[in-house]
Parts: sequence; structure tokens; C-alpha cells
Amino acid sequence: MSHDGVIHERLPDAGGSGGAGGAGGAGAVAVPLRWVIRWETQLDDAELDRIHEFLKRVFPNHPGGVQAAWAGSRPELRLLGFADGGSPDGGGPQGETAGELLAHIGIARRFIRARESGASVLVGDVGLVGVSPDRQGAGLGRRLMRQTDAVLTDLGVDFGTLTTGDSKIPFYEAVGWHVAPNRLHAIDLWNRRETFDGPFFIRPIRAPLTAWPTGDLERNAREI
Ligand SMILES: CC(C)(COP(=O)(O)OP(=O)(O)OC[C@H]1O[C@@H](n2cnc3c(N)ncnc32)[C@H](O)[C@@H]1OP(=O)(O)O)[C@@H](O)C(=O)NCCC(=O)NCCS
Repeated sequence: MSHDGVIHERLPDAGGSGGAGGAGGAGAVAVPLRWVIRWETQLDDAELDRIHEFLKRVFPNHPGGVQAAWAGSRPELRLLGFADGGSPDGGGPQGETAGELLAHIGIARRFIRARESGASVLVGDVGLVGVSPDRQGAGLGRRLMRQTDAVLTDLGVDFGTLTTGDSKIPFYEAVGWHVAPNRLHAIDLWNRRETFDGPFFIRPIRAPLTAWPTGDLERNAREI
């Protein structure tokens, strides 16, 4: 995959749910998706507006509010999943971003620092994980996270990381992420230092889970 490429997702075989290649659990609907990767400097105003409208629907109660298409810090790139059928009414965006925006994720590479050893780990910090509200619970989130694995691999990071709330633990565990045992010191959405008290998830990408550092960690940045 190239970072600015477009991926027409191969649909899973009939009955192939549950595993990493599955479409999701009971009631999963195989929606053809086109995955598009956009670096932040490629996004024009119309695309940012479109993402903003999507994120406002997905995160109506985000504590920091979703600003002009981001919540904490701006990501480095977006992974966008579009319904792969074009604009139904013939209007709207054409080309690779045609069709309804159904899934979104933001990623920024950064270092997480282990306080005790001083070692730094290259991570792809993930945020703004969202599926269109009327499509949730049908396996799109699982497919989004599978594509995210591919992007993180391509970005060459050792781990994926993300911070979330308790209600999302079952979802991230179902798609193969692990709750890290560390205490995480970070910068909150209002630019104050914080000790994050929600679940901090990690996903081994180039390094094994056993390589994750122990003890207190620092993310010297806001969440995505
Ligand atoms: C979280 C979100 C991205 C998940 O996407 P989704 O399309 O609804 O999830 P899926 O249908 O692909 O579910 C994937 C797996 O997670 C499991 N899962 C999801 N939510 C769950 C829950 N609350 N409890 C238990 N399992 C859950 C599903 O059962 C499924 O497992 P299975 O395939 O083995 O059946 C989506 O619901 C969403 O956008 N929510 C609002 C925004 C949000 O909270 N984002 C996360 C912020 S960090």
C-alpha cells in the first residue's frame, strides 16, 4: 500500500466473520468500501468541512468538542472509508473521495517516553476512531481497525497507541488491542498536564507485546 493510495477493499468471503479478516459479528452487512489515505497537508477546505460534519455526528458529546475536524492535536494523516459506489445523486465529490464517508481515523507518529529508563518508543497514536452512526454495530469498525493495522505497518511504527473511555474497552479488545498496564502522563485537551485515568490501549505492530516498556510513561502531546 502506498501512503497516498486508494484501496478498494476486497469483501470477505460469505460466512467469514469473527477473525481479523471477517466482516464483523451477527448482523454484519458487507458494504463495499474504498479506503483513502490523506496526509494532513493534502486536505483542502471542502474535505476538512466534510470530515468535520462527519465527526460532529460521530462525537456529539466529545468533552473538548470536535473543532474544525480534530479534537486534540491534528493528526498526521487520515484513513477514510467511503461507500464504494460513487455519489448516489451524481452530485458531491467525485473521484477517490466520492460516496458517503462511513469511517474515519486519524494517526500521528510520535514518541512515548519511559520515565524510568528514559527510552523512547516510536508509536502511531490513533484517534477520532469513528463509524457513521447509522452503520455502527455492523462490522465496519472492525474493518476500519484492520486497515489501520496496515497503515501503522506502512508507517514503520513499533506500536499503535490510543486513549479512550471505559465503554470502548470491549470494542478495542475485540479488534486485538491491549490495555497497557502503565500510568500515562500526558497533555489534556485543554493543554494542561494530566495523568490519564481512562484505558490506554496498545497494538503491537513492528515490535512484540513483550517489548512494551514498564512503569510510568509520558506522551508529551495531546491526544489525536
Ligand atoms: C466504536 C466504533 C468505532 C465501533 O465501530 P462499529 O462498527 O460499531 O464496531 P463493529 O460492529 O465493527 O464491532 C467490532 C467488534 O467489537 C465488538 N463490540 C463493539 N462494541 C462493543 C461493546 N460495546 N461491547 C461489546 N463488544 C463490542 C463487536 O461485538 C464486534 O465484535 P465481533 O466482530 O466479534 O462481533 C463505533 O461504534 C463508533 O464510531 N462509535 C462512536 C465513536 C466512538 O466512540 N469512537 C471511539 C472513540 S476512542
